[in-house]
Amino acid sequence: MSYQHITVSPVAGALGAEVSGVDLGNLDEATFAEVQAAFLEHQVLFFRDQEITRTQHKVFGQRFGDLHVHPFLQPLKAEGHPEFVVLESDAEHPFVADAWHSDVTFEDEPPLGSILRCVAAPQFGGDTMWASMYAAYEALSDHMQRILSSLTAVHDTSRTFSRANYEKSTEHIGGKRAERVVTAEHPVVRTHPQTGRKALFVNSTFTQSIKGMKPAESAALLNFLYAHLQSPDFTCRFQWRKNSMAMWDNRCTQHRVVADNLTMYRRMERVTVMGDKPF
Ligand SMILES: [Fe+2]
Repeated sequence: MSYQHITVSPVAGALGAEVSGVDLGNLDEATFAEVQAAFLEHQVLFFRDQEITRTQHKVFGQRFGDLHVHPFLQPLKAEGHPEFVVLESDAEHPFVADAWHSDVTFEDEPPLGSILRCVAAPQFGGDTMWASMYAAYEALSDHMQRILSSLTAVHDTSRTFSRANYEKSTEHIGGKRAERVVTAEHPVVRTHPQTGRKALFVNSTFTQSIKGMKPAESAALLNFLYAHLQSPDFTCRFQWRKNSMAMWDNRCTQHRVVADNLTMYRRMERVTVMGDKPF
């Protein structure tokens, strides 16, 4: 695909591209259309030097769809921004999201994507990695692809937002514990509604089990998939600077922070675009 208004430079073979020549706080229609096309082509986009306000951040997100309000994380609600999730870590507050996942898959309609802006970056470390679930699916044998395509997985909040110590460990980012375990069911392989490509859709943070399998069968299959999908062959990695932004397609990627600098302050702010029911 060729672009007239933006420069798109892939950063890895499986996914990820850095986009330059844009101000996300001020995008005309033609430029936005190319950002949208690049998003579908590269699965995760990176932007540097985006010194934008929270309102501009939200307005950019709203061009992709309605914004999601997280049921258990609304740290900026009192400031008029319930749509923001904040990720903040330092010596006292360890990283959250340091395991592979896609966002909010415990809901029936998980997000289309998330848009993260770096407010404070550590001098080094605390990178984020993404993995392409198209690439992970396509690398499996025809037999395994067929088996997985007939399966449904149960996702829930039992290991995250419903955990007994959740509220305490996320007090500084406005975490509220889920009183009940929230559950959703999704196909193990989903078809992307815009590209038509197939992607693996189970993750170690929210997927609880494969429906209709015995616990040992489900655990063995899921553990195989979790080991498979984090192959470096399917990943890319982004080093944050202040005002860097990343936007990922939550329908065909997973991500995690690299928890390798446990003392330096890091702050990220995220808005999340609502998605549809996986099929
Ligand atoms: Fe996440």
